[in-house]
Amino acid sequence: MLEDKINKIKSELDVINIKTYEDLELFKLNYLTKKSELSLLFNFIKEVSPELRKEIGFKINNLKNIAESIFETNKLLFEVNQTFSLNDSTLPSNGFNNGSKHPLSIIQNQIIEIFQKLGFSLSDGPEIEDDWHNFSALNFPENHPARDMQDTFFISEEHALRTHTSSVQVRIMESEKPPLRYIMPGRVYRNEAVSARANCFFHQVEGIYIDKNVSFADLKLVLFEFTKQMFNKDVKLRFRPSYFPFTEPSAEMDITCFICSGSGCNICKHSGWVEIMGCGMIDPSVLENNNIDSNKYSGYAFGMGIERIAMLKYQINDLRLFFDNDLRMLKQFS
Ligand code: DAH
Repeated sequence: MLEDKINKIKSELDVINIKTYEDLELFKLNYLTKKSELSLLFNFIKEVSPELRKEIGFKINNLKNIAESIFETNKLLFEVNQTFSLNDSTLPSNGFNNGSKHPLSIIQNQIIEIFQKLGFSLSDGPEIEDDWHNFSALNFPENHPARDMQDTFFISEEHALRTHTSSVQVRIMESEKPPLRYIMPGRVYRNEAVSARANCFFHQVEGIYIDKNVSFADLKLVLFEFTKQMFNKDVKLRFRPSYFPFTEPSAEMDITCFICSGSGCNICKHSGWVEIMGCGMIDPSVLENNNIDSNKYSGYAFGMGIERIAMLKYQINDLRLFFDNDLRMLKQFS
């Protein structure tokens, strides 16, 4: 009787076919749990005659070992399959989400690309600057009120976070001989309260061209070409006289508002013009400060804020949006 039960289970195990995880669970329930038919066989051993007991015990134990190994082998197979199906490099990909460039990077790259096509090389300089490169060499006399044009983060008596990329002009003039034609993008810092229109750091692109016989007309031509390519429109330029210690004459450059084409809107504060950058002819004393003969060479310089151009191009009205890293804003540039 017991022998029949053993043989029945044995023949079941011989043909068992586990295909799914549910089959595996069912197998465990039927053959390996305490109340399974197989486990219950052990209860009958005591009823077997002593001379057969050893042999029967051996057979039941053997059955149990077979069932356990079937279970373990199939469980392992499922685990291996699952791992491989997750990492199957031959499967087509589901695609993945690309990040997007920051709007300031997009604009900075466009500016660089335009000027490179116009023959300018790329350069940069340190963000921690000494007084000479940020101020003195650029004709900001010590204790002169012009230094207050830019609220400065001082690091020590001699060093500060650069307040403008004009400092890189000096680094280029002291390390190379004219002709020099460079643009220099980078981050600058000012000790200003953060608001929709000001931040304690922002980005600029500086440009210089120093050679024999460089004139204001050359400056106008290059800036006109830049503006046309940057804004893709037939914009007009306007140069307003201004003051910067390192240029003489100095100017601020406006373009006709490309939103309203000059008829007046919020962006241009109903004036029809928007300011884009500062520029001018490099003051001869700045050339001399850097051992460039101002009788032989002349040059122009210009500097623009990248945020300002990005705000105009994308009609962003709050500077802080560039620095919040809010994905709702950034995803719009993918
Ligand atoms: N450095 C000036 C600023 O940060 C901008 C500037 C004006 C740069 C005139 C120039 C320039 O090169 O010629 O406000």
